[in-house]
Amino acid sequence: MMKGESVSIRDIEKRYGSANAVNRVSIEVAAGEFLSLLGPSGSGKTTLLMMIAGFQLPTAGLIKVGATDVTHVAPNRRNVGMVFQKYALFPHMSVRENIAFPLRMRKVHRQDIDRRVDEALAMVRLDAYGDRKPVQLSGGQQQRVAVARALVFEPPVLLMDEPLGALDKNLREQLQIEIKTLQQRLGVTVIYVTHDQEEALTMSDRIAVMNGGQIAQIGSPSNLYGQPASPFVAAFIGKMNFLSVEYLGRSESGTQIRVSDRSTISVTRETAAHGPALTYGRPLRAAIRPESISVLQKGLGGPTSIRGIVETSIYVGSHHILLVNIDGRSDAPLQVQAPAGQNLPAFTRGDAVDVTMDSDAIHLFGENGGVQ
Ligand SMILES: Nc1ncnc2c1ncn2[C@@H]1O[C@H](COP(=O)(O)OP(=O)(O)OP(=O)(O)O)[C@@H](O)[C@H]1O
Ligand SMILES: [Mg+2]
Repeated sequence: MMKGESVSIRDIEKRYGSANAVNRVSIEVAAGEFLSLLGPSGSGKTTLLMMIAGFQLPTAGLIKVGATDVTHVAPNRRNVGMVFQKYALFPHMSVRENIAFPLRMRKVHRQDIDRRVDEALAMVRLDAYGDRKPVQLSGGQQQRVAVARALVFEPPVLLMDEPLGALDKNLREQLQIEIKTLQQRLGVTVIYVTHDQEEALTMSDRIAVMNGGQIAQIGSPSNLYGQPASPFVAAFIGKMNFLSVEYLGRSESGTQIRVSDRSTISVTRETAAHGPALTYGRPLRAAIRPESISVLQKGLGGPTSIRGIVETSIYVGSHHILLVNIDGRSDAPLQVQAPAGQNLPAFTRGDAVDVTMDSDAIHLFGENGGVQ
């Protein structure tokens, strides 16, 4: 039985010339944790992972696996397994030989190698495929071999860089669950790079959202989804509507914001909206998720609703996606997730509706980001 080790990343930096690919990143990964590095292309995910693996040296900072400082230790002496996006299998070797390779490198005894390769093959459900060459396997099977090869020497830490990036959606979702199940069963610590937010939400205990070489926010999936610290994180995780609004003031019913000439709404969600800069008329960005907006026929929405016209209605099985133009606003329509059911009216293009935003689900940000 493997056991995970903690990973400490402290003030890690990687400079290329004058540019910082990774800029003073610190993360404490707990033993047995599944941590994802999520971010757009070029945000520094691979560079950070390569420094943890030892394939690149940081310009500054410290990396520890368990209690050991590995900052300057060679990759093969770090006791971390690595899976890459492209199947980095040896094409001339059979599946068995590929999986045995890390054990041969470590001079493990012949009989032990056979037994451990059998176990690793069973672990990724490829018992019958040991004698094939990589070219005779599907993409998903090749990636399972790569996982088996990375885990066969029982490393306490497994690093994966977009391991499912080359696979189609169904296979990706199936392998996400397989990898997560395996990780929980083995207790191994995983640091997993992806730019797919759904994948990160599905698999992770915590997600570190990266932007421009820095950590924009780190937290549990529900924490990032429910309490995004900036418009960047709000937009990157899940679908979010943004509206430019004006600050009017505070009252007992919450923070008052103007959405259009005709409508003012209250935000009851706790905001630090006391700053001196927050004066009457100050522009803010309001953010709200599609599932926190409800739509009723015109006239049924109550006093806090605002008027709108349905621009598009799309049925997606479990619910409808409505695009609604808010009365008096000329910006992009609001995306609303409305439940679908036999007794619920289905809206169509042109319908006049009352739109109600859940006042506890509206996030307010300053014009240039940051929580107000
Ligand atoms: N060897 C290098 N020399 C110079 N700049 C580099 C080098 N490697 C990476 N970079 C730069 O560092 C930044 C981070 O790159 P990195 O590969 O870590 O991004 P990433 O988040 O993994 O992106 P992707 O999702 O596209 O894989 C990018 O701006 C990239 O151009
Ligand atoms: Mg990358």
